[in-house]
Amino acid sequence: MHKAAKWRQLFTQIFGVGVRTADRWYREGLRTLDDLREQPQKLTQQQKVGLQHHRDLSTPVLRSDVDALQQAVEEAVGQALPGATVTLTGGFRRGKLQGHDVDFLITHPKEGQEAGLLPRVMRHLQDQGLILYHQHQHSRWESPTRLAQQSHMDAFERSFCIFRLPQPPAAAVGGSTRPCASWKAVRVDLVVAPISQFPFALLGWTGSKLFQRELRRFSRKEKGLWLNSHGLFDPEQKTFFHVTSEEDIFRHLGLEYLPPEQRNA
Ligand code: UTP
Ligand code: MN
Repeated sequence: MHKAAKWRQLFTQIFGVGVRTADRWYREGLRTLDDLREQPQKLTQQQKVGLQHHRDLSTPVLRSDVDALQQAVEEAVGQALPGATVTLTGGFRRGKLQGHDVDFLITHPKEGQEAGLLPRVMRHLQDQGLILYHQHQHSRWESPTRLAQQSHMDAFERSFCIFRLPQPPAAAVGGSTRPCASWKAVRVDLVVAPISQFPFALLGWTGSKLFQRELRRFSRKEKGLWLNSHGLFDPEQKTFFHVTSEEDIFRHLGLEYLPPEQRNA
């Protein structure tokens, strides 16, 4: 590996650090995590938290963590807005046993009800003492056709969080990394989608990244349709397809339905 690439990899593992920041730190002579700890003025709030919880955040998230998190998020969402739903996405929906974070998609069966929901969910979670850090990103909704042109980005309202997840005593005893820990820091993404876009959001956020890239390429090249996490667009008719499930999307693309476990490409 190229010498600079080694530090780039070390630094970009930190929550909130991208390639450009990592390269800048390298040029400034920083080489270790301790170098960073000695230069807190160089760090954003997000990076400070990332560094503080670096050990936990570089430990794989387990399936048992996911179940506990889902329960907590469902409770907060139910309190914030009765009828709103929480769906596990990302690698864990594909059946992976470990992950680097946990991704949840939130919606409500009545279009528009999801507006303003996320700040209330976050308040409930904070009241439970479950949040170490969160960063809210507003919906960056532009025109639907403009979004249809972008295949990689999405504009959903979301919260990038670090949860303070209580660990059951049994796990703490058997745990190898931190035998006495009563909690651990876990990265969680909460994403809110209106119900009309939910199947596209679910498909997109379930991944894998490679599978989605291939599916979108297939859609554009073979079918002349633009697929992303907001919709499926026919650029000739200038219309969006209406769907109510992931199965509908596969059908419109002329493909056999693939369950999440088979999207690990
Ligand atoms: P992740 O990066 O969480 O990957 O994105 P993963 O498959 O769950 O694996 P882990 O977490 O490393 O174990 C999940 C899916 O969400 C999409 C990605 O493209 C991927 O398919 N995604 C992620 C978005 O659509 N938008 C984003 O802003 C982030
Ligand atoms: Mn994930």
